[in-house]
Amino acid sequence: MSSESEIAKPGLEGVIAGETAICCVDQGKLLYRGYPISELAEKTAFSEVAHLLIYGELPNAAQLKKFQDQLSAFHGLRPEVLSALRTIPADAPMMSVLRTCVSMASHFDPVDGQEVEALQRRAIWLLAVASDVVAARFRLLNGKEPIKPKPGVSHAHQMLYSFHGTEPDKLSVRLLDLTLVLYAEHDFNASTFTNRVVASTASDMTSATVSAIGALKGPLHGGANEEAINLILQFKSAQEAGVWVRDALAKKGKIMGFGHRVYKNGDHRAVILEGEMRKLAAVKGRQDLVAIYDAIKDPVVNKEHPIYPNVDYPCGLVYYLMGMPPDLYTPLFACSRIAGWCAHYIEQIQNNRIYRPLSRYIGPPLRSVPPIEKR
Ligand code: ACO
Repeated sequence: MSSESEIAKPGLEGVIAGETAICCVDQGKLLYRGYPISELAEKTAFSEVAHLLIYGELPNAAQLKKFQDQLSAFHGLRPEVLSALRTIPADAPMMSVLRTCVSMASHFDPVDGQEVEALQRRAIWLLAVASDVVAARFRLLNGKEPIKPKPGVSHAHQMLYSFHGTEPDKLSVRLLDLTLVLYAEHDFNASTFTNRVVASTASDMTSATVSAIGALKGPLHGGANEEAINLILQFKSAQEAGVWVRDALAKKGKIMGFGHRVYKNGDHRAVILEGEMRKLAAVKGRQDLVAIYDAIKDPVVNKEHPIYPNVDYPCGLVYYLMGMPPDLYTPLFACSRIAGWCAHYIEQIQNNRIYRPLSRYIGPPLRSVPPIEKR
């Protein structure tokens, strides 16, 4: 029989794989550097949260201005990156485009050095690059040229402006900003862990970010916000959705946007966002979609072993009601999570030990290589 230390832990469930001062995720609370997510969602904007994650503290007014000025100065894609973007086939998923173009942009990284101050500035540069790539791709796919960034506005405002080329309405700016705050950080989730594994090899911050984008793309992780809205949109009525979900649960099918490795009693972020989603749906006159949302949710949360919505379930509908196409949802998540990834990169390399777990071998027993004619 295996000893405790020899028991394999699929998915590393329950394993404490490191220490972090960036984020605390548990059933009862979600804290970014000690601040509860509910308070950050109510009182701060994304740039303040990004500063908190990257620099360790909320900014004062002067620090916030400096942060926003740096972000504004980094906006605007290099012509080489735009040329590469134009060559990518139109049907390539936006997350793949983001992965490729952040990687391409790294060849023109304007920040020198690997010391903490340089890494903090590179993190801000990556935030600018990612949103510029997503906006440029969105515009090119819609037959429009990428536009010059707009300085002096919030990150959410800048993103919406660079998608549409028009001044966004206040509600859209506030809601996008809220989702960016909620998505910014979540301790050792799959993409952040990927980032830390790459950081632990002493590779560079952009390589770690590109790897994390690849991890976030998966539908079991960040890709779920897109899957969740596609699920809601496939039904014409709440009744149809209710029939489908009961059948899916009976067949042990997976309902996208539900479940979480850590949260077993509900996701703090989903609760915050669901309230906003209901208000937005009322403003937009789309109670029909809320009825479908609830018809899927109710049987899942009311079954014998309830499974609760994670942040991606309400977020998919919030973005849809804001008029954004589903292919943008996971990239928007990435544009926010870069703040968390980079904070973890810096934390990892400051107290580094390479990640190198063990595996238990279950392959064939020892055997010799037969000559080729006998195989
Ligand atoms: N729909 C139906 N049943 C589910 C779901 C779901 N979405 N999630 C979990 N379950 C069930 C499982 O079938 C399993 O049941 P069993 O014990 O009878 O076998 C039980 O709940 C435990 O589920 P696991 O798959 O073991 O949970 P795990 O921690 O490994 O996976 C995960 C977590 C990947 C998030 C999973 O819940 C899932 O696939 N959800 C759908 C995808 C999704 O929404 N991902 C976004 C996560 S949040 C984020 O990344 C921002």
